Amino acid sequence: MRTLIGDTPQHIGEAVVLKGWVHARRDHGKLIFADLRDRSGFFQLVFLPKNKEVYEKARGLRSEWVIEVEGTVGARPKGMENADLQTGTVEMAVDRLAILNEAKTPPFALDTDGRDIGEEHRLKYRYLDLRRSRMQKNLRLRHDIILFFRNYLSQKGFVEIETPILTKGTPEGAREFLVPSRLHAGNFYVLPQSPQQFKQLLMVAGLERYFQIARAFRDEDQRGDRQPEFTQLDIEMSFVTQDDVLALGEELLTEMVKKIAPEKKISQTPWPRITYKDVMERYGTDKPDLRKDPNDPNELAFAWVVDFPMFERLEDGSIGAMHHPFTTPHPDDIDRLETDPVSVRARAYDIVLNGSEISSGSIRIHTRELQNRIFTILGLDDAKIQLKFGHLLEAFEYGAPPHGGFAPGIDRLVMILAEEQNIREVMAFPKTGDAKDLMMGAPSDIDKKQLKEAHIRTDL
Ligand code: AMO
Repeated sequence: MRTLIGDTPQHIGEAVVLKGWVHARRDHGKLIFADLRDRSGFFQLVFLPKNKEVYEKARGLRSEWVIEVEGTVGARPKGMENADLQTGTVEMAVDRLAILNEAKTPPFALDTDGRDIGEEHRLKYRYLDLRRSRMQKNLRLRHDIILFFRNYLSQKGFVEIETPILTKGTPEGAREFLVPSRLHAGNFYVLPQSPQQFKQLLMVAGLERYFQIARAFRDEDQRGDRQPEFTQLDIEMSFVTQDDVLALGEELLTEMVKKIAPEKKISQTPWPRITYKDVMERYGTDKPDLRKDPNDPNELAFAWVVDFPMFERLEDGSIGAMHHPFTTPHPDDIDRLETDPVSVRARAYDIVLNGSEISSGSIRIHTRELQNRIFTILGLDDAKIQLKFGHLLEAFEYGAPPHGGFAPGIDRLVMILAEEQNIREVMAFPKTGDAKDLMMGAPSDIDKKQLKEAHIRTDL
């Protein structure tokens, strides 16, 4: 039976079997020391010359070899304890050593935080890079946060539902990734920029409270807080006002911080609610950093930015949706939709945290008539509306309840809680700034047969 390193302090005086990786080996005069690493921590092994066979084998141990050892857990001699280590009071004189697999020398150090190593190198050997403590910690934090959301929302009556990845486009302001159809020559699926239309259709379907840990895909220029595929905590609710949605969002994230990151303090509760107009006048940005002390790693300054404009004027003079076209206009401004659209406010709200936009959401349109009006203002003619959104308009005619929701970006949220500067540090297998997966070698050439089956001819 294998014992985990983290449990060894409870087994002093007992013989146990440990399995893991050699983190480091040090020879001290006659003694050989090795640090063993498993998913639960680090542990000091001692090899004594009197146990000749094991001792000789231990001489050959190298970093990252995978081994199994057996021996009795003992208290370290007085003065040899390491207070920094969870297992710093114990060690083992090894009676039996089995080498489960050898390892080449890793291309870079794994016992540092890795910040001085070129990122291309780290991403190419990501399976090694993830062995470092910092990355293990980040991935576990991410897991804890997602697990909290799942449990919390389930208790509140939300149902987690998976929506399709092979689908039709939904407008969220970025370019779309296309997937050619083999069965329908010349036709394409589109990867979702968000589950927006599906979650609204689930409200029409009577689910009332939905959430999903949802993958979203956007072909846009990369930045430190942007990846071509990322994860949202996607939420939608029926029969709610904007205040209901804001209250749920605030409670959800506040409780998460209390449980998962109790060392952090939220600068202001309830979170300030600032209108878009005020935030732009006061800070010149819609994602202000409201921390009292930006150098305090434990300060979290959440705020709601509300009353975003419904539309924005694009460079070519046309009008685009500021959030997405499914957002309701502010009831006081509806009269000006056609006459002065850019002055119309929307029931749309963002969450900003320490200068980062971590969530967007809105109260949605749920009638065919208003949705049609918005599409028309956005310059779509009837044929195009029917082609792109006919299904949604039709659904609204079968008893669509009033509904609204929001979607925090999980990567950005974890990045801030982990005090990282780039979302790549909290994703297991992220892409580079130019959207490549260096480990898998994607995107890549496809062989001719596959292209032909997908009815694709490249012009290269
Ligand atoms: P939005 O487009 O604002 O809204 O996205 C919601 C949140 O997702 C995160 N995010 C990203 N994270 C990493 N990389 C990206 N490329 C990226 N793009 C966005 C941000 C953002 O706040 N369907 C709506 C939500 C709704 O109305 O309910 C939507 O997708 O943290």
